[in-house]
Amino acid sequence: MRRIIIAWLMAAPGVALAAPVALTGNVDAGRVEFARCQWCHQAGPSARSGFGPQLTGIVGRRAGMASDYRYSAAVKNSGVVWTEPMLAAFLRAPQKVIPDNKMRFWGISDEQRLANLLAYLRTL
Ligand code: HEC
Repeated sequence: MRRIIIAWLMAAPGVALAAPVALTGNVDAGRVEFARCQWCHQAGPSARSGFGPQLTGIVGRRAGMASDYRYSAAVKNSGVVWTEPMLAAFLRAPQKVIPDNKMRFWGISDEQRLANLLAYLRTL
């Protein structure tokens, strides 16, 4: 398994997992944040799954639904719906929200960056 360590995305201890994102996000700043996700994810009208599933319309989508992607059983059977609070919790600490998922990503600990990213994900 290829491991990609994303040093700038270290999870800070003590971040409340299920807390909603209280800050207002900026879509343009979120687009910049999304560049990191694009190492593994595509989104948009012609998006296809690659190393990770495509994320078009991810807000409100059920987990494990990209038809051209082979998910881990952990995601496929999670029963998660990607509401904004769920996405926020997952992006803070992916392995705590869906243990054994195969997204190699450390989590976003900066709440403003998370709010920006969610604002952008909403537009997809
Ligand atoms: C190193 C590659 C990588 C990076 C970087 C990455 N992801 Fe992922 N992501 C994955 C993989 C692989 C999966 C599938 C996990 C599984 O099936 O267990 C996934 C799954 C997901 C899912 C669940 C999708 C679904 O259809 O249920 C979401 C949401 C998600 N990623 C969002 C993001 C966001 C937002 C970012 C940027 C902040 C990001 N990811 C960064 C690899 C990555």
